[in-house]
Amino acid sequence: MPASLWPQDRGAPHDSYFSAINAELRRNGPARPCLVIDLDRLDHNIALVRQVMGPGRSLRIVAKSLPSLALLDYVLLASGSSRLMAFHQPFLSEEARRFPQVDILLGKPMPVRAAAAFYDQLQGPFDAARQLQWLLDTPQRLAQYLTLAQERGLSMRINIELDVGLHRGGVAEEKVLADMLEMIERNPAHLTFGGFMGYEPHVAKLPRAFGTQVQLHEKVLQRYQDFMQVVSSSYPKLFHPGLTLNAGGSMSYRLYGEQPLINDISVGSAFLKPADFDLSLLAEHQPAMFIAAPVLKVLGGTRIPGADWIGKTAAWWNPNRRLTYFLYGGHWLARYESPRGLLEHPMMGYSTNQQFVNGSAATGLAPDDYVFLRPTQSEAVMLQFGAMVILRQGKIIDYWPVLGSSDPGPSLEYASQVQTTHREIASHA
Ligand SMILES: Cc1ncc(COP(=O)(O)O)c(C=O)c1O
Repeated sequence: MPASLWPQDRGAPHDSYFSAINAELRRNGPARPCLVIDLDRLDHNIALVRQVMGPGRSLRIVAKSLPSLALLDYVLLASGSSRLMAFHQPFLSEEARRFPQVDILLGKPMPVRAAAAFYDQLQGPFDAARQLQWLLDTPQRLAQYLTLAQERGLSMRINIELDVGLHRGGVAEEKVLADMLEMIERNPAHLTFGGFMGYEPHVAKLPRAFGTQVQLHEKVLQRYQDFMQVVSSSYPKLFHPGLTLNAGGSMSYRLYGEQPLINDISVGSAFLKPADFDLSLLAEHQPAMFIAAPVLKVLGGTRIPGADWIGKTAAWWNPNRRLTYFLYGGHWLARYESPRGLLEHPMMGYSTNQQFVNGSAATGLAPDDYVFLRPTQSEAVMLQFGAMVILRQGKIIDYWPVLGSSDPGPSLEYASQVQTTHREIASHA
């Protein structure tokens, strides 16, 4: 048989970066699957984002993609931003409590009862009438919010979602926009106009056959401008320089460097760069978040229950199946990152308890070593592990709880000597 038909050995041991984290986790880690954040890489990514924000452009941090109050605190401080975009009512309530000075824009329209729940839970100095912008997408929902505001004697700041080409929602017709602006103008005691939000990740995602990123982006801006025209020409009283004209996200924020229209740009995931964000526009960003899962058992070869010969043949044929690891946990929305060349087996499937994974002899892990994976996205995956392990120069310096979880993380007695609070670190970033 020609040698080229034999599977190549794609395995490699941890490089020096992952070897150092592996050694630190073995010594001081929580000895369970955990989410690791590398603050040095996060700082690098924050610096890249800051470069794009110039005069007249403010950064808004996408809270769903960094779902931890401590992490949000760090990124707000290190990026110089005082704006958040929120997507989940219980987290919004916590964010308003923890960051009473920030401006919060909703990233999606919420059922009016979620808005009512927010006001029920509101405590502390956060001034919702001034600092919160509800995102509204239809005249019907706006009418519901108006009723809530009238019943409770509230003043609500309204930001209108525009469909600038994604077609996920938002106002698509100028007539509908005019109806909504009319309702706001007629009810100044309860509604004020905050601005627009037009999200456009399709600009980075669509195949080139649909146009270049620059061409697609120009269409988005043109559409946005047309909607702006409705305000300035028909509702001049609502048109003022303080409007929040939001757009962007991690996939597109780099396209907003030189344009006069958008003054509020959202970024979240690009700070940690999960695997779905391996895009040409984000080539300079570094992955700053990994799942680390301890290896519980190491077996030679591949053993398939009831079909030993299949496992033996697989291990003989494919050098990448010479070893089997059983992991602590598994089946996350994530891709294997280190050691290189790990693969699951179709007959063994997936386990959230003890994942079966094959590797070549070159991967060389022992029990209690860690396998590293890159989450494909941030929001849901980051909430699955309890407190995140925070690394600075490869050493554990803190544990940061995630939103919605009561796990504060292990005591820092188990952490290395390099202990500093995240506030001190952020101020040096
Ligand atoms: C309205 C809106 N803005 C911005 C973003 C970008 O978030 P990220 O930077 O995490 O991709 C999203 C993501 O879903 C979104 O829905």
